[in-house]
Amino acid sequence: MALPNKPKGELKAVRDPEVEEREVDILIVGGGMASCGAAFEVKKWADNESVLLVDKAALERSGAVAQGLSAINTYLGDNTPDDYVRMVRNDLMGIVREDLIFDLGCHVDDSVHLFEEWGLPVWKKSPEGKNLDGKKGLKQGSLKSGAQPVRTGKWQIMINGESYKRIVAEAAKKALGEDNILERVFIVELLLDKNRDNQISGAVGFSVRENKVYIIKAKTMMVACGGAVNIYQPRSVGEGKGRAWYPVWNSGSTYTLCMKVGAELSMMENRFTPARFKDGYGPVGAWFLLFKAKAVNGLGEAYVNSEAAQKELENYAPYGKAAITPTCLRNHLMLFEMKEGRGPIIMDTVTALAELGKSLDKKELKHLESEAWEDFLDMTCGQANLWCATNTEPEKKNSELMPTEPYLLGSHSGCCGFWVSGPDYDWVPDSFKIKADNGKVYNRMTTVSGLFTSGDGVGCSGHKFSSGSHAEGRMAAKQMVRYAKDHSDFTPELPLGKDEIVDMVYKPVRTYLDNYEYTTAEDVNPNYIKPEGMMYRLMKATHEYGAGTATFYETTNKNLEIVMDMLEVMREDCEKLAAGDLHELMRAWEIYHRIWTVESHLRHIQFRKETRYPGFYYQADYPNQDDENWFCFTNSKYDPKEQKWDTFKRDYVQIIPSA
Ligand code: FAD
Ligand code: ADX
Repeated sequence: MALPNKPKGELKAVRDPEVEEREVDILIVGGGMASCGAAFEVKKWADNESVLLVDKAALERSGAVAQGLSAINTYLGDNTPDDYVRMVRNDLMGIVREDLIFDLGCHVDDSVHLFEEWGLPVWKKSPEGKNLDGKKGLKQGSLKSGAQPVRTGKWQIMINGESYKRIVAEAAKKALGEDNILERVFIVELLLDKNRDNQISGAVGFSVRENKVYIIKAKTMMVACGGAVNIYQPRSVGEGKGRAWYPVWNSGSTYTLCMKVGAELSMMENRFTPARFKDGYGPVGAWFLLFKAKAVNGLGEAYVNSEAAQKELENYAPYGKAAITPTCLRNHLMLFEMKEGRGPIIMDTVTALAELGKSLDKKELKHLESEAWEDFLDMTCGQANLWCATNTEPEKKNSELMPTEPYLLGSHSGCCGFWVSGPDYDWVPDSFKIKADNGKVYNRMTTVSGLFTSGDGVGCSGHKFSSGSHAEGRMAAKQMVRYAKDHSDFTPELPLGKDEIVDMVYKPVRTYLDNYEYTTAEDVNPNYIKPEGMMYRLMKATHEYGAGTATFYETTNKNLEIVMDMLEVMREDCEKLAAGDLHELMRAWEIYHRIWTVESHLRHIQFRKETRYPGFYYQADYPNQDDENWFCFTNSKYDPKEQKWDTFKRDYVQIIPSA
């Protein structure tokens, strides 16, 4: 049930919150694309199994699609799942889980068809080859009935998507029932079962609108809380602080929650460093693909085609020589130009719009210009604001591009996340199947029995985007029902009592209340640290030592050693986080999740002794790709009992042959 928006100011936290205990068969943590997919699907397969979805925010506008989107980046249409695997494999420099990608490729279009059925306007091609958006597009019929989408690239289609998330959330709510949804509840820890080894049994969190702790037992659960933002110092500082490309509320919970109960991670070194319109973080996809704009260097040269750039790409063959240059290498070329003294990098919007305008009448040209604005208004309105604030009319003035600070995610152009089971088909290698306690294989289950993930949580299979995350959530939901049915005799028991749980969740509040009167300025106190202070500490450390923007994404063995020490101390100091109100309590837990997440990221960078993703990050002690030793998955696992990390390799298996 949705709670009203908060009254003016933040609600003060109290020492002893109310406690609500629940017990369900299936728990869905998160309310984004993957979780909405799960919510839509789950009841179709369930009989009497009870289901609860818990979102930190409000479903209508939560997660990465909150502001809306202007494209669906994964729609196969006439392409084959084999080809989809090849595209993802190439973009991610060869090391991906082809079983997961193929499986997703078989199902993703069904979610797109549903979105359209639920009211999402998809642009269509007219029989004359014109682009028709909004109502005009609708008149051409649906994709399912054979209408042609407006393709930007081979995989992407254009939508009028400002209300995309609302549409998807509405369907999720209707299917699951509002009574089975808790909004504005932030899950902070998962718990393993008291009696069964490596078995998930529950999740605990708190309301960000009421002084209330939630303790939820479940037989099985899916955690899909998106990726991680603000783990590095953003480029936007001072007056721009708070702007980021990635949604600021996804704070690495997926990774921290599941890794802390022992779920195996994979490819956590693979960050996503998006190239974006500088300072406003406007996406580039529509500009490159739909408007056919070119990026030029400071000298006005289309540097991508230069001899130097082509030579540079050859170093990363076969990926560098593919028809579509991988995302990290596109960044690498930008950085290469800038380091060679030919910056800044500029998106030539003026020439692109002028070229397109040549075949258009006046009215069509106006429409094209409004589409250029709408692209941002639909999904990154801050960029449109910045254009207004800087007198930028894209048909008259070009804009700079810049690789942003790094983010961690598994569904966009990055692939960090959990090692999950592939589907139980005979063509899937045994090493990609994870057996639960009963010896059965459940698609998208992590290495913890009963714990599933999807979307940004699934490692080694990027380029799912919004549609793929939704489809993957649906796939996981079906498997969770199967799991719950197979475990109908299991009664989860939590390892901690109610008071211990409240102590843990509200610790920052109690630390604050015990100590805040000691000083006049409550942010400065010898007995605690506020989450804001910890945030600056984290950002400074990763920025300078962890291959942040400060060093053009470069790090070294020694830098990594230093930053790992700093992170360990930060984790210890989190014991002293203090929160005076509910917003601060959320901030305290967010920063805690961020620290764990970025630590696992850097641990993986430290382990992988090569530079697999130039343009995303550089390990200067190992500047090249080393296929002989590192053409494999790098995995890690935190042992919750021993409180120790293990980092190791797993074999890559090619399933889909090259074209
Ligand atoms: P999300 O949709 O981000 O959902 C995460 C959910 O978890 C949210 O509901 C959040 O409130 C909740 N949550 C977080 N922490 C907690 C917690 N501790 N407890 C409870 N709940 C929690 N895809 C496209 O197809 N086309 C595009 O044009 C496109 N553009 C994009 C632009 C941007 C800026 C970004 C960031 C992504 C874009 N994507 C696009 C990708 C797409 O949005 C993601 O792939 C997709 O949203 C991932 O789904 P998810 O469910 O894993 O995460
Ligand atoms: S968005 O999700 O924030 O809109 P972005 O703008 O990077 O992402 O990309 C949208 C889609 O276009 C993705 O599928 C991405 O791989 C693709 N894309 C972006 N730039 C290029 C490019 N220069 N060449 C090929 N594909 C691109």
